[in-house]
Amino acid sequence: MATFASPAEELEWLAAEIARHNRLYHDQDAPEISDADYDALMRRNSELEAAHPDLVRPDSPSRTVGATSTSPLAKVAHARAMLSLDNAFSDEDVADFVDRVRRFLRLGDEEPVVMTAEPKIDGLSCSLRYEKGRLVLAATRGDGTTGEDVTPNVRTIGDIPHQLPGEAPDVFEVRGEVYMAKADFAALNMRLLEEARAAGDESRARQFANPRNAAAGSLRQKDASVTASRPLRFLAHGWGEASAVPGETQYDVMRAIAAWGLPVSDDFVRCDGIEAMLAHYRRIEAKRSGLPFDIDGVVYKVDRLDWQQRLGFVARAPRWAMAHKFPAEKAQTTLHAIDIQVGRTGKLTPVARLEPVTVGGVVVTNATLHNADEIGRLNVWPGDRVVVQRAGDVIPQIVENLSRDETRGTWPFPEVCPECGSAAEREPGEVDYRCTGGLICPAQRVERLRHFASRHALDIEGLGIVHIESFFKDGLIQAPADIYRLTKETLLTRERWAEVSAANLIAAIDAKRNPPLDRFLFALGIRHVGEVTARDLARRYRSWAELRAMVDRAIAARDALVQAVGETDEKFLARQAKELAAIAETPGVGPEVALALIDFFAEPHNAEAVAALLDQVSPADVVHETRASEVSGKTVVFTGSLETLSRDEAKAQAEALGAKVAGSVSAKTDLVVAGPGAGSKLKKASDLGIRVVDEAGWADIVKAAG
Ligand code: IVH
Repeated sequence: MATFASPAEELEWLAAEIARHNRLYHDQDAPEISDADYDALMRRNSELEAAHPDLVRPDSPSRTVGATSTSPLAKVAHARAMLSLDNAFSDEDVADFVDRVRRFLRLGDEEPVVMTAEPKIDGLSCSLRYEKGRLVLAATRGDGTTGEDVTPNVRTIGDIPHQLPGEAPDVFEVRGEVYMAKADFAALNMRLLEEARAAGDESRARQFANPRNAAAGSLRQKDASVTASRPLRFLAHGWGEASAVPGETQYDVMRAIAAWGLPVSDDFVRCDGIEAMLAHYRRIEAKRSGLPFDIDGVVYKVDRLDWQQRLGFVARAPRWAMAHKFPAEKAQTTLHAIDIQVGRTGKLTPVARLEPVTVGGVVVTNATLHNADEIGRLNVWPGDRVVVQRAGDVIPQIVENLSRDETRGTWPFPEVCPECGSAAEREPGEVDYRCTGGLICPAQRVERLRHFASRHALDIEGLGIVHIESFFKDGLIQAPADIYRLTKETLLTRERWAEVSAANLIAAIDAKRNPPLDRFLFALGIRHVGEVTARDLARRYRSWAELRAMVDRAIAARDALVQAVGETDEKFLARQAKELAAIAETPGVGPEVALALIDFFAEPHNAEAVAALLDQVSPADVVHETRASEVSGKTVVFTGSLETLSRDEAKAQAEALGAKVAGSVSAKTDLVVAGPGAGSKLKKASDLGIRVVDEAGWADIVKAAG
């Protein structure tokens, strides 16, 4: 082995060497060293890191090895996040969108809002980075922040130039959709079937469900020659990082991109108002089925780039764009059976098993029936002919029963849990039946574990439902904390686990010992605490300790209230308790969530499970990503009318600078921005000696932050 001048140098060498062996093993199927030698490198890396924690590199193999275990493609961080779009489903939704834009920008009634409109392609988005005109990197969207490196694959797509003409900026990321034409998709499935037939095993032919899956499966290949054999296409619809932008409107920049040789939709137009937008939508809808590729709507974007800049983003979607979706597609089929699935909160969900049918290009075999009421409403029984509908990525639904026959009554919904035999009950006012087995119900426990490790929760790569079920069955994992107690040695005693796979899973688990607070909270699977609520709570409380202290205050307040008034009605409590109301202050978090948090943590089993988990895991505090400015960390109040800004825009600006925006002036207020007509708040501010600026003063603060 080589000798090194310092531990830092050795760690650097180890990172590069281990990464190289990962590539050889995962990407090229051509390992150069034995598993034992690979393990020795990993061990040496861990030893050095344990001895010198300050030298742990961001790309340390101890952190990244898990990432390469399930996806053979390297991860790349996007220079600018790849966003998604909000959806509109009706003309009214589109009108609301235009109105929102107007209000945000405070436009006069006469001022037109010009928008672009173009088809929404059903493919997968891809960012193509050109430096000095040369294609240097291509990445999939991934989670929007980090995608997969598909550069060699993208180079095989004929629509995508490797070199842009001389006038292109130094750095320019073209963003668009990689897709497969409908006819090419059908031919590809046929070819795969014939190849399998020729190899003597038709039943093992790989078949793609729809053109989008085919495009994704073809692009995300570790062997780019496979991609080369698949007929992929590309359409540009925007851009990411750019050292210069060739135009002042969406339309002009897209024209420049087209002039550089990248395909832009023939149906990309500029509209001078809502009438023109809707007319274009109808035109595209009319020719939808005749288009050579799948589209699922029309995307509108504010044309002026300075306006886009001002409008900015909410969560993951721009305020300046909207996807106007086409209505769902429908088809008829036969309902064969109704199965009951048990979810992580014990909810029993009826699932319709259908005769396979193609709906809008996708083969549908299952549909959700939601709950017992829905079964009653549709009056469905196995054997009926039904109409199935599919809209976007949502689960297909049965929207009509063609064999209604009221005389036979309603299909009997089971009154016991099909998984554990406990009684299934319906709480008053609830539509769902729930298994009362709680933690004795294996289905609920497995579902909770699955949820904990799942992509949107802790995202433990390689720990999917198959492993969870098998570890659970054998008693290896009963609660989330057990996941972190797994060892490589234990895995190696099990069938089909080898050094590398075991090391990879352990590394993937270890990589999630400091999860972001919101993911951790979401992973706990508390009723009513979905991803968005978890994010809101995490933003508001910022650390696990603060969040937990809030819940403890709420529990104490509830107990005191119960004692004082002898009242246990939940709705009453939610309305009354002061501490509960404090939680409800968090945007999007109402009394329902407050009570769910109390119920969860007041239950000893849960409190114990979380305590055990916290021995293994430390959720990371929330640090706001903001621009530094003189108001960072300060509290700002806006009052009076603002002339160039809407309230929403002002608030968004303040938050982007790391300030908190409050509704009323108090001793905690640091700055008041007062417009004409400011009244009592302005007076209070001067009484308290708080700094006051006018709108122009505020604009200077924003400008100074750059
Ligand atoms: S614009 C910042 N335009 O739809 C806005 N997206 O649902 C980014 N898509 O992730 C997207 N056709 O992959 C835009 N003409 C189009 C599109 C389009 C398809 C995809 C894109 C995006 C997703 C959002």
